Amino acid sequence: MRVPWRTRPPSAGGPIRAPATLRGVIRVPSDKSISHRALIANALAEGESTVSVRAPGGDVLTTVGALVRFGVPIDAHGMVDNEIHFPVSGGGTGDAIATFRRREVELSCRNSGTTMRLFTGVSATQPARVTLRGDPSLELRPMERVASPLRRMGAAVTTENGLPPLVVEGRRPLRALHHDLPVASAQVLGAICFAALAADGETTVTTPGPTRDHTERLLGWMGAEIARDGRVTTIRGPSGLRARSLVVPGDPSSAAAWLVAAALHPDADVRVLGVSLNPTRLALVDVLREMGATIEIEPRDGGGPEPVGDLRVRTAGQLQAIELRGGRVAALIDELPLVAIAMAGADGVSELRDAAELRVKESDRIASVVCNLSAVGAEVHELPDGWRVRRGRPRDANVTTDGDHRIAMAFAIAALAGVATSVVIDDPGCVEISYRTFWRDLETLSGREHPSLPGGLGS
Ligand code: S3P
Repeated sequence: MRVPWRTRPPSAGGPIRAPATLRGVIRVPSDKSISHRALIANALAEGESTVSVRAPGGDVLTTVGALVRFGVPIDAHGMVDNEIHFPVSGGGTGDAIATFRRREVELSCRNSGTTMRLFTGVSATQPARVTLRGDPSLELRPMERVASPLRRMGAAVTTENGLPPLVVEGRRPLRALHHDLPVASAQVLGAICFAALAADGETTVTTPGPTRDHTERLLGWMGAEIARDGRVTTIRGPSGLRARSLVVPGDPSSAAAWLVAAALHPDADVRVLGVSLNPTRLALVDVLREMGATIEIEPRDGGGPEPVGDLRVRTAGQLQAIELRGGRVAALIDELPLVAIAMAGADGVSELRDAAELRVKESDRIASVVCNLSAVGAEVHELPDGWRVRRGRPRDANVTTDGDHRIAMAFAIAALAGVATSVVIDDPGCVEISYRTFWRDLETLSGREHPSLPGGLGS
């Protein structure tokens, strides 16, 4: 598979500092969550389609690789303007959902929890024995939460004391299920939804907190009978899917880096074009506005299952501290390292609670945020389920990422926004997991390159 180009880390790993101005217009990579789901759903669907993914990151390419391992005839070709097109020949041939070609499948899910959890759900529908492994970080992440409901649906699923590798032997039809998720996880919800396409009857899943609803939107748009009402998702099986082409909009969790950077920077005006405006992904906009940021949203015509539009953020007055706890924390899950940077640049003492789930992400993000905030000079206190932080005296810092893309990006933004005087990131390449073009966009907005993108707010 051809990948357009690799990201360029800051000049030979040198220090990142705040630029005099932070200005420009960019497009971030396609949304990671939607990309995984669009590729998998079209592979399970009847018909042909093209899924256009801008600058796919390592996690999305891992999902493409997993489909190839199942024998799905994907041909990744035709790079246009940093997009790769995946013409996916849907395998659905009148059966409820496609039966893939291979009967014995070894999947390497690398760093991608979403690939592992969604494919556990998909594997539960396949007449195959599927082994799912991860890299050392993924092999430490909890999988019983996805294994247990799929077992109750009738699939044989084993874990190693709740951790990967998972071994799944699927069957059809599966049993419909009524399940209360112990943690608000869109990955687990998505896995059950994919399995429920091959189940007999109505499956309902109740989540204890808000989760992103991309699975429901996409599968409904492709013909499944699926609905979300508050915290309850209902899906009726067996159900086929109609293949549908789509251009995956920009990732709000990637745009989040620039929202925080520009909200803190003293001379900033940044526009991010073509981002998913899915309300379940915009909690950061509300949080930053509460802290005093100036953010404008301009909806555009997306034409797919997701609302799409442009974001514009300009220098605010001094941001104010915030306390975050309860349900809204789950809705911010991937943005919390960046929220920590906004908190460390704000006036007053900020606190995050109810975020213990951060300890089982790509790294222990509570430990990692606290250690690195302390390195940049913030006054920070670790809590079992979050942190308490106030501004300190910014310092030059070496940042330890543990290979975690969101930690690397959050602390690059700390330097850009003046929360640190300078930052050296130990593993700048790890941003490729979700944001292949991060370093280029950072240079562009810092005035070291000037893009000429058409359209967008105010242009
Ligand atoms: C994702 C859901 C979130 C998020 C992850 C992507 C998804 O995980 O952290 O980056 O695509 O469903 P959980 O749902 O497990 O919290």
